[in-house]
Amino acid sequence: MLGELMGLGQSFRLLRYCAAWKQQRKLAHLALNAGATKEYSKLQTEAVVSFLDSLIENPSDFIFQLRLAAGRIVLSMTYDVPVKSSETMNVLEIMMATIGKGMMPGAYTVDMFPWLRYIPSWVPFNNIHTIATEGRTRLLRVVGLPFAKQQFLSPSPTASFTATCLQTMGTILAFILAIALYPDIQTKIRMELDRVVGHRQLPTLDDRSRLPYVNAAIKEMMRWNPVVPLSLPRFKSKEDVYQGFRVPKGTIVFPNIWSADVQDDISGISPDEFAPERFLDDCVERTALDPYSYAFGFGRRICPGRFFADNSVFLSVTGLVSTFVISPTIGSDGRNSLLRAPFRQGMMRFPESFHVCILPRSEQLAEELHARAREMSKNGSE
Ligand code: HEM
Repeated sequence: MLGELMGLGQSFRLLRYCAAWKQQRKLAHLALNAGATKEYSKLQTEAVVSFLDSLIENPSDFIFQLRLAAGRIVLSMTYDVPVKSSETMNVLEIMMATIGKGMMPGAYTVDMFPWLRYIPSWVPFNNIHTIATEGRTRLLRVVGLPFAKQQFLSPSPTASFTATCLQTMGTILAFILAIALYPDIQTKIRMELDRVVGHRQLPTLDDRSRLPYVNAAIKEMMRWNPVVPLSLPRFKSKEDVYQGFRVPKGTIVFPNIWSADVQDDISGISPDEFAPERFLDDCVERTALDPYSYAFGFGRRICPGRFFADNSVFLSVTGLVSTFVISPTIGSDGRNSLLRAPFRQGMMRFPESFHVCILPRSEQLAEELHARAREMSKNGSE
């Protein structure tokens, strides 16, 4: 309800099943189907190379740099606009933080009692209109950004854009945290990359089918930390029955992705462990439920950007592991600081601030990467 009051009623993600949603869905499918996404591999690779290059100079800045890279990838793909500074991303993220809560059904009393929206703002304790105005103002600030003006954007796609950046960034951050916490797994990934791709090459999408352990590690990261743990809420358009319970028309339902992945009772490996082996036929009798069947949602609302996102994640994490060694930093109390990494709460959940040590595997690799990044920016790809 508050999302609607903020002016997000026409957002792709919030649209109910209707002609406008069907039309947007068709367009998204045309641009983002498995075949079409291959077209974007060059711009994804370029964003990854400049992200990796930035880590040679500023390894401690990896979250900031990753944010820029995720923004670059999605903005270049959607609007063909380069993101050169973090200013654009800052404005977009502040807006997302405000509207994120507004989009969450049940977050405000007005969701339960929709008539509250008609109570004037001067009535004591009624802050609905103030929050809605704040959200609207932030959205309008984003629409005033040069790229948004250029594309005559409405606030809705802009909100979608920010969500997609955060999801991609959150997934990669979860991977960095996991491989720093589990160095043996990091080594196994690196060994496979060196064996299959060669240790002086950045992996490409064509290598993917020959990298079973890498693919299993990406699946395990999606199981370990699904970025959208409650997916997007559904609105029941007619009465239904689920496992003997009546679900009345108009009920808002959250698919609990979190519970689907936490309970891996199939592979025999404890669900608490970070273990890519649970997805490998030659390690377990029965592999765990494939996270691609739930981490991107379900049915007709399944994430249309999943192939694109998956490629971005693959290129980023393989580039990282083949070029750098990532290890935990020890806090002043002598304990591994990663074990206390705070996670972002809300519709999207991922580790939001933590410190790791990121070192190039060799001087030579760092120099080659730097040369490639320089060449790219000389050719005007940036
Ligand atoms: C790792 C990154 C991503 C994850 C984990 C993710 C996950 C999800 C999930 C769980 C949903 C809800 C699906 C449902 O309700 O069943 C969703 C919807 C959506 N996603 Fe993604 N997503 C990611 C990246 C992207 C990207 C890169 C794009 C666009 C380029 C995108 C575009 C969308 C859109 C437009 C919807 C709404 C679809 C609809 O309501 O019909 N996503 N995503």
